[in-house]
Amino acid sequence: MPKIFYITTPLYYVNASPHIGHSYTNIAADALARYMRLRGEKAFLLTGTDEHGQKIEEAAKAKGLSPKQFADSIVPAFVELWKLLDISYDDFIRTTETRHTEIVEKALDLLHKKGDLYAGDYSGWYCTPCERFWTDTEISDSASGQCLECKRPVHRITERNYFFKLSKYQAWLIDYIKTHPRFVLPEIRRNEILSFLANPLQDLCITRPKSRLSWGIKVPFSDEHVTYVWFDALLNYITAPGFLKDEKRFASIWPADMQFIGKDILRPHAVYWPIMLHALGLELPRTIFAHGWWLIEGEKISKSKGVAVNPIDVVEKYGIDAYRYFLLREATFGGDGVYSEEALVLRLNSDLANDLGNLVYRTLTMIEKHFGGIVPKPDKIGCAVDDEKLIQLAKGLPSKINSAMGALNYGGTLSSIWELINCANKYVETSAPWTLAKQGETTRLSTVIYNLAETLRIVSIAISPFMPQTAKRIWEQLNVGTPLEKCKFDDIGNWGLLKPGGKIKKGLPLFPRIEKKI
Ligand code: MSP
Repeated sequence: MPKIFYITTPLYYVNASPHIGHSYTNIAADALARYMRLRGEKAFLLTGTDEHGQKIEEAAKAKGLSPKQFADSIVPAFVELWKLLDISYDDFIRTTETRHTEIVEKALDLLHKKGDLYAGDYSGWYCTPCERFWTDTEISDSASGQCLECKRPVHRITERNYFFKLSKYQAWLIDYIKTHPRFVLPEIRRNEILSFLANPLQDLCITRPKSRLSWGIKVPFSDEHVTYVWFDALLNYITAPGFLKDEKRFASIWPADMQFIGKDILRPHAVYWPIMLHALGLELPRTIFAHGWWLIEGEKISKSKGVAVNPIDVVEKYGIDAYRYFLLREATFGGDGVYSEEALVLRLNSDLANDLGNLVYRTLTMIEKHFGGIVPKPDKIGCAVDDEKLIQLAKGLPSKINSAMGALNYGGTLSSIWELINCANKYVETSAPWTLAKQGETTRLSTVIYNLAETLRIVSIAISPFMPQTAKRIWEQLNVGTPLEKCKFDDIGNWGLLKPGGKIKKGLPLFPRIEKKI
């Protein structure tokens, strides 16, 4: 079985409903999956929810529900949002499902038998919202004496627990990261992890006493403990594709090709996770890519702090593809982005309404007006300098997309597509079809209009991973004849595939301008 291109997103905590930050990862992951499928590869996109641990237990308690009932009440919000945003995921895993919990237990057992887990006393400063301990040094070094991550109060706790021997694998991990330059991306995160690993690595406390927390996966060798939520959740990336259950399937999916995370969860993914895999005798993912944060007025989006925008509200107001486009175009993937409605409207009005929408509308209008709605036959392909410029740009587009996508540069990919759109808009001005029509130069007019229609066909395929609905609408309005889903990536650079003689079906403008002030 050929290897499937495996993409993962983090599993989202179900203590609150999804916000822009969550949707960002899933949109980026979906765009990559669609791009790979367009290139003819099989892609498998996994997402899901992280449902154990103290945070969930507390949120459930506040609502008077059991943790499972509470999780059940939140999960549909994620499922529905992914549907609304056209996230083409192949599997949605919940960490409370038996297919996950039973394998987590087996993995614990394996590591225990192997001697990588041991019992010991743990004493430290615990932050409940972050579900993590801080050492004495870390707390005394911090100016506030509070959690280093969320700056909230920490509590002193000593308890008997099980530990995972991270320290045993530290030298191996450093060497692995150094010899695999694409393992942790972007570069800034790779360096961050390497400098973290320059200090001795503490073993990881991977259980919680039931007396303090009962909402977790059973520990097969201790009745008094449950599994630490991070240890449980990370394993989803292998439980979903069938680890210890369906060897053949697992072998065709694992290792993951791209694991998307936010920069705040780099350490579990770039330190605990590779060591867990190595200890289990498994290959490591090819790349862990940590993107930045979306900030609103300088603050990280956070439901619990009341800094959030509901993606559903934005989509209702401006449409799915405007939202997807904005997130992928506005910020460099890997860096932080600033979210504001003004910035979104600006992008919508300029890139989507003025550039793309206008090109589609004016091209189809001219086909209607001058050729009775039938795509004209060009006279001679590339007979003028301007034609040649447009055609060469279109032919060069696939390689530009490939190199930008290879670097997860979504903004760069979109800007190379917009280069073609803008070139086509200029082409309309310089070739002045209205003058050609007035002067009765029908042959030249046919060529110009065909070239514009052909550009639309190319743009439609090129944007399909990022804006699937818009791509489809352009395709349908052009009435190409073959389904868009059947297109291959190479069709982008293959000038002249649009068959003359088809009857277009012009619709409403794709992106009406937003005139009102926000
Ligand atoms: N449950 C863990 C992940 C376990 S993966 C095995 C978790 N969940 S989370 O719901 O808190 O966050 C999930 C993801 O959302 C993280 O990658 C985080 O970086 C991302 N985002 C949360 N807020 C964000 C922004 N404001 N901007 C961009 N992404 C951010 O952590």
